[in-house]
Amino acid sequence: MTEYRYPLGSVLYRNLHRSFPLIRAGRGSYLYDAAGKKYLDASGGAAVVNLGHGVKELAAAMSRQAGTAAYLNGVQFTHGPVEKLAAAVASFLPFPDGKVFFLTSGSEAVEAAIKLARQYWVERGQPGKSRVISLSPSYHGNTLAALSLSARQHYQEAFRPLLLKSARIPAPYCYRCPWDLAPADCGVQCAQELGKAIGDLGREKVSAFIGEVIGGSSTGASVPPREYWEVIRRTCDRNDILLIADEVMTGAGRTGRWLACEHFGLVPDIIIMGKGLTSGYFPLSAVAARKGLLDAIREKGRSFLHAQTFAHHPVGCATGLASLEYLGRHNLVARSARMGKGLKRRLEGLLRHPHVGDVRGKGLLLGVEFVRDKKTKAPFPREWKYVEAFVARALERGLVLWPNIGHADGTNGDLVIVAPPFTLKEDEAALIRDKIEATVIDMEGKFR
Ligand SMILES: Cc1ncc(COP(=O)(O)O)c(C=O)c1O
Repeated sequence: MTEYRYPLGSVLYRNLHRSFPLIRAGRGSYLYDAAGKKYLDASGGAAVVNLGHGVKELAAAMSRQAGTAAYLNGVQFTHGPVEKLAAAVASFLPFPDGKVFFLTSGSEAVEAAIKLARQYWVERGQPGKSRVISLSPSYHGNTLAALSLSARQHYQEAFRPLLLKSARIPAPYCYRCPWDLAPADCGVQCAQELGKAIGDLGREKVSAFIGEVIGGSSTGASVPPREYWEVIRRTCDRNDILLIADEVMTGAGRTGRWLACEHFGLVPDIIIMGKGLTSGYFPLSAVAARKGLLDAIREKGRSFLHAQTFAHHPVGCATGLASLEYLGRHNLVARSARMGKGLKRRLEGLLRHPHVGDVRGKGLLLGVEFVRDKKTKAPFPREWKYVEAFVARALERGLVLWPNIGHADGTNGDLVIVAPPFTLKEDEAALIRDKIEATVIDMEGKFR
């Protein structure tokens, strides 16, 4: 086979309408395909590859564990990698004595977190508390409960009859503030909405609030004002509601701190991680909870009622541990902060182009939002598929970006996420900017 697209071969491809390059190898920030083409991975896959591609130490750690005890049933045994990785994660949690449960994807971890919150209230004798309030726009995954929390119309449409009831408040997406306020003196109106939503549902029915601490793909790396999380935390406390921080994208150093919570002094009750926890070398996610939640369950003679075959997977945990150690040894979280600042500055240079509406983000989680009209922030009509064309043209130039749609009003909106490996070099940062600019100019002639 020399072409990889549906219906050739037997793969159910992630897109049934286009061809896929076959990648043979990756090294550092680069990927190499079978035809000899080189790609600069400016999105680290889906904001996953924190350490870069082809790190032999990671491969060796995985191989060592696979050759020792590749799989153990978490119901019967514990093992070195899970004990050590849990301790390593606990060391950067914002609450003392946190307990960590490992799964294999962000979506599963989101589902486990909302189950944990729910079970906590059941054990505490408040079985009415089941609803979870989330943000709009937001993304928490694609399994049914995680999708129910996500404000993603295009993913939800076909599946609405299968989804849970949702309750959402506007996300801290300052570029498109629904009240047209400026972040400096907005009184974090969007955070104030949480109290109203709880009032509407009745606090006795609400179990938790879940939010991305810094926006991921759903708001193109929007950074909330500092007071945002203070107001949310206070509102949760006042109403006996657990606060779940979704750090699937932001955790493990992506925003220049081990957790995005650190930027805000936020202490959630539950933190979810995934993606960069193993830098993508193994599918691994984590639910970290305050000890008090588990104590409440244990006091009732029960355990956390969640079971998955691959929970606490030895190879996954060994990979996570090797990845966190590598980040620490090479001081890569600080590098994410430093390189992110520089790359953001370079990308801000693109704001002189008529369709580059905003550049934002923190550390190496950056977003570039495109608009049809900069003054009104009007997006391109969805049927033009601006960002799909943008990403395809960038790929032709050998640049990998990650697109998002729908953030402007549920349907329209075009942005790309720029989230390269933390090992990014200065010349690679310059190349990312140049290739994005060339694509912006190329698109200007065709989309007006
Ligand atoms: C913030 C956030 N939460 C949850 C998820 C779901 O993770 P996964 O795709 O591993 O299921 C994602 C994925 O992009 C995410 O960005």
